[in-house]
Amino acid sequence: MNDNTTPMARGDEPELVPANMPAPAHVPEDRVLDLRFAMGQVPNDLPDPYLLVDRLRQPGIPRLLWYPYPFTTFTCGAWAATHYDDIRRVYEDNEHFSAVGVAQFQVLAGETFPSLPLGSDPPEHGKYRKFLNPYFTPKAMNQMEPHIRSVVGEMIDRFADRGEVDIAYDFGRIYPVKIFLNLMKLPFSMFEQFLAWEWDILHSGDPTRVGGAVTEVLAYLREFIAEKQANPDEGVGSYIANGEIDGRPLTDDEKIGMTWFLWLGGLDTVASTISQMFRRLAMDQELQQRIRDNPGIINSAVEEFLRVQPLVNSHRQAKKDFEWHGVTVKKGDWVMCLNSSGNFDEAQFACPHQFDPERTANRHFTFVGGVHACLGAHLARRELRSLLDEFLKRIPQFRIKPGTDTTVTPGLLSIRNLPIVWDV
Ligand code: HEM
Repeated sequence: MNDNTTPMARGDEPELVPANMPAPAHVPEDRVLDLRFAMGQVPNDLPDPYLLVDRLRQPGIPRLLWYPYPFTTFTCGAWAATHYDDIRRVYEDNEHFSAVGVAQFQVLAGETFPSLPLGSDPPEHGKYRKFLNPYFTPKAMNQMEPHIRSVVGEMIDRFADRGEVDIAYDFGRIYPVKIFLNLMKLPFSMFEQFLAWEWDILHSGDPTRVGGAVTEVLAYLREFIAEKQANPDEGVGSYIANGEIDGRPLTDDEKIGMTWFLWLGGLDTVASTISQMFRRLAMDQELQQRIRDNPGIINSAVEEFLRVQPLVNSHRQAKKDFEWHGVTVKKGDWVMCLNSSGNFDEAQFACPHQFDPERTANRHFTFVGGVHACLGAHLARRELRSLLDEFLKRIPQFRIKPGTDTTVTPGLLSIRNLPIVWDV
């Protein structure tokens, strides 16, 4: 028994109970449920931390539920889509669903520019995507891969003969950020400050702290843009600062909108993925050995890690009134896509809770779908694949350090410390 907000342990079952919270008049009462256990904020110690969300797809439960609590610092109350097909519709149906207004933390700092490309809809969205794309294609990643591998190799070599590392704090937190900062040509000296700001924005839940951190980040990034205009270089930051779309220079709002959103998206997503990936590998010796013995399956294994670790539940806003699964979705309603449910939907994935490192046609939602599918997905994949390959070559069979707390908060910044050990 659990009240749906306190940490869950192995064996706990979430209670699917009415929420006793107000909801708009058009939302039927039986859809208003306490889904807080499924929102990625309740820590648990399950080998598969997202397992509890399965509760939402059990027979007899309506396909569209209402979550009456805040789901960002500035939005409260949303429909929750829990099935693969419904989630896909939300991402792909641009006629009914809009991303304008998503991830707009900057409103808390009194700003009016949109986060780009995420906070825009087609056809405008396509222009920004096309503009940024050249730096994020598989071809661009081929060019980056030697750098990625040299960073990862050097970092591992520094601790390989110690027989121990805090893979979350001393490695996962740093490695992808090093790659990202180099891509943007942002200075590594700002690393700790960037992570502190990002923590306040994504995790403090306190509008004043969010607003304060956003104000500071934006002041920093605006200076960074000005500096790249004065002294252009080959980084993405400079490309945006001096960029053109349709033969005209980008506006100031477009420049800060893109720089800001890349900053937000590029910092801790891969880090959180790494810590959860190593937790699973360190707990499952057989899986670790299987990948170690078959480096040819690293690519499909990474995709499976991504499927079973959907860090972010995205949301969209209805553009018009329409009927869906027995309810009226009203213009302006938010719809949350529980990727943590869709990625385990039996209707799409055979044996969804079996971790299959050779799974084929693994079309999960960890990078969402539709036009807003993560721009950094190829970069993230390349970082994760290079890491697994270089790590397993250099470090023998590893395990969690005895006595370690293996609790996870399913979602971003999921594990702060994860010491692992091996024999040297
Ligand atoms: C494992 C790592 C990552 C995960 C799980 C992830 C997840 C996501 C998700 C869920 C979205 C869609 C958000 C929404 O629709 O509401 C997204 C979009 C985006 N991500 Fe990532 N991301 C990752 C890495 C990165 C990296 C490394 C970068 C940048 C270097 C990046 C940049 C972006 C951008 C620019 C978008 C917006 C795309 C658009 O609107 O067209 N992401 N990401």
